[in-house]
Amino acid sequence: MNLLIFFLILLLLFLLLVCSFVFSVFFLILPSLFWGAIYVPTKPEIVKKMINLADVKPGEKAIDLGSGDGRLVIALAKTGIEAHGYEINPFLVRLAQKNIRKAGISDRAFIHLKTFWKEDFSKFNIVTVYGMSHIMKKLELKLRKEIKPGAKIISNSFVFPNWRYSKKEEGVYLYENKN
Ligand SMILES: C[S@@+](CC[C@H](N)C(=O)[O-])C[C@H]1O[C@@H](n2cnc3c(N)ncnc32)[C@H](O)[C@@H]1O
Repeated sequence: MNLLIFFLILLLLFLLLVCSFVFSVFFLILPSLFWGAIYVPTKPEIVKKMINLADVKPGEKAIDLGSGDGRLVIALAKTGIEAHGYEINPFLVRLAQKNIRKAGISDRAFIHLKTFWKEDFSKFNIVTVYGMSHIMKKLELKLRKEIKPGAKIISNSFVFPNWRYSKKEEGVYLYENKN
């Protein structure tokens, strides 16, 4: 009898493990991969580089496309400007919101549980992204159609296929709308 209970518990644990694996793959990893990029956080030294390249000016407004744990949004908001993150993984949205509260910048850092593909980029002066090569062509078209003159795009690791970057530093690329 005791052995039967032991095996039942073992079976239950195994089923729980399989369910969480299937849940993660189908509801977290595959959607991220399909609509953008899977979660890989930007290294702290690269975050600094991206902020330097953004050359933030007072009154500007920033967006991070796929904000993960909120590190870029937090770094941007810490410069004093309003920063928004768009993220489709609800667990990362909760984590980022917690990190923002901890950093004490809830008045100017905001995370939205939404895909960035539906957002109008014309409201932003600074766009940061750590995407994947398969989205860069579509993202380039959307950005070039929507961003306002003087806007800056800072891309970690990936380049746009038909747009010449104005600066490159250690795998971080700065694009500008000079119109
Ligand atoms: C490579 S991570 C970058 C995270 C964060 N920006 C950083 O630099 O640490 C990409 C993030 O984009 C999210 N993502 C993928 N597709 C998305 C979409 N269409 N809309 C919003 N977020 C998306 C993923 O869930 C993942 O957290």
